[in-house]
Amino acid sequence: MSAEIIDGKKIAEDIRSVLAKEINSLDGDGRPGLAVVLIGSDPASEVYVRMKKKACADIGVESYEYSYGADYGEDALLDLISDLNEDPKVNGILVQLPLPAGYDEKKVIEAIAPEKDVDGFHPQNVGRIVIGDTDCFLPCTPYGCQILIKRVVGDLKGKHVVIVGRSNLVGKPLANMLIQKSDMANCIVTVCHSAAADIGLYTRQADILVAAAGSPGLITADMVKPGAVVIDVGTTRIENPDKPGTKRLAGDVDFESVSQVASAITPVPGGVGPMTITMLLSNTVKAYKMHNGIA
Ligand code: GUN
Repeated sequence: MSAEIIDGKKIAEDIRSVLAKEINSLDGDGRPGLAVVLIGSDPASEVYVRMKKKACADIGVESYEYSYGADYGEDALLDLISDLNEDPKVNGILVQLPLPAGYDEKKVIEAIAPEKDVDGFHPQNVGRIVIGDTDCFLPCTPYGCQILIKRVVGDLKGKHVVIVGRSNLVGKPLANMLIQKSDMANCIVTVCHSAAADIGLYTRQADILVAAAGSPGLITADMVKPGAVVIDVGTTRIENPDKPGTKRLAGDVDFESVSQVASAITPVPGGVGPMTITMLLSNTVKAYKMHNGIA
């Protein structure tokens, strides 16, 4: 079998064009606003922030960048967040992670007003996901995975999803999202992780396999049930053997072998990645509508 390649870039573009139309149709000169906060000079974070600002500009979301050196300080950052919480032009606040050493990420995330937490990282939003309350922001990467899964599989009722990885960013929220009794979920979910003696024992039972362990090439063909849908969340930067001295993104799935067994598979790059920023835009539009009483 040769798997369908799930074109995350195309699906992301389709969603972005719907969002652009929605923003265009807003009354008056109202525009959703996103504050993007970058502390320090991590090269990958700088790239992500540039991509987020461009994605905002492309669809008519106003972005406001706050970039400071690593010596900015936690107290100054908490003051900035407090100001942004009060700023009416800002509907969403994103503090790019990881923060430099010396910053308490938990404290910083909890300082963001839950109604502006478009990353979906605040414990109030996480708690709402667990209880199945839709009045919250879903974290962007698992939200993107859920949309891809729904588009490819259709009826998710009773499908067995196996998630490899238990991070707060992907594994835990996605598991909670996919067990809810809704049209976007209703799955049977297994989460396995590094404590499993044999990960394949679990992954071979998956109708839908989500690899989010951050371990390049972890999932090989023998670990996948024939016909399964495979979603690769891995984005580890490794040395590029084709261009010495440069890096490339590597997924958690051995694409060459697994694409011979799966019915559909996301590539890296071009699968989950483009969906993450798209769901950030979607959350920012949702925040704008919530703050302005638009249904
Ligand atoms: N760093 C890597 N991914 C993310 C993300 O989704 N949000 C934030 N704020 N930082 C990140």
